[in-house]
Amino acid sequence: MMNWGAILAPYEQVVDELKVKLKRMRAQFENESRHSPIEFITGRVKPIPSILEKAEKKEIPFEYIEREIQDIAGLRVVCQFVDDIYTVVNMLRSRKDLKIMDERDYIKNEKESGYRSFHMIIEYPVETIHGQKTVLAEIQIRTLAMNFWATNEHSLNYKYKGRIPTAIKARLQRAAEAAFKLDEEMSTIKKEVNEAQRIFHRK
Ligand code: GTP
Ligand code: MG
Repeated sequence: MMNWGAILAPYEQVVDELKVKLKRMRAQFENESRHSPIEFITGRVKPIPSILEKAEKKEIPFEYIEREIQDIAGLRVVCQFVDDIYTVVNMLRSRKDLKIMDERDYIKNEKESGYRSFHMIIEYPVETIHGQKTVLAEIQIRTLAMNFWATNEHSLNYKYKGRIPTAIKARLQRAAEAAFKLDEEMSTIKKEVNEAQRIFHRK
């Protein structure tokens, strides 16, 4: 019998710690009455059946799971504006408590599905009762519009077991373009929106 509890404990810890740290970042912007590039944060540890399913699909032997499956710990940072994504990316790049192993910009290079997000794979040291353990985590950074799209597409993928009918796929691609247009339009009125939010906060 595998002791999954022991294997996953450091991943639970990374998710918990990074959630706290990212929330503190948001709070600091708010304390300084500045627009926070972070709207909200979510995090999860991949469920055991999903880990095993992915290992099987990618033919990863058990002993390589922790090295090869890089999203056992997953964080998602959701932003209001596309600019904010790159602000968060730069802030993460300059942190000394994590090491960036890989970056993928699916905003400048969107996926064929229409998916957009900025992905980072990071290495993060957690202190355990058995000493320090370094684990990998995936951080997905996206706008509210990108998140709306990805959440719906994910549900459809689940429903159709990864084989979304062509007609629906085409609709999703159009919806992705519409979501991106919305982000672009919002960017042009970002200054106005930020100003309004600052006034609202002062009240
Ligand atoms: P994985 O085997 O999924 O890890 O693919 P990968 O290692 O090539 O990484 P990639 O950056 O493509 O995707 C990692 C994660 O991004 C996925 O687990 C999803 O959470 C998300 N993602 C990637 N593509 C899509 C997509 O087309 N739709 C949605 N909804 N999410 C996606
Ligand atoms: Mg991956």
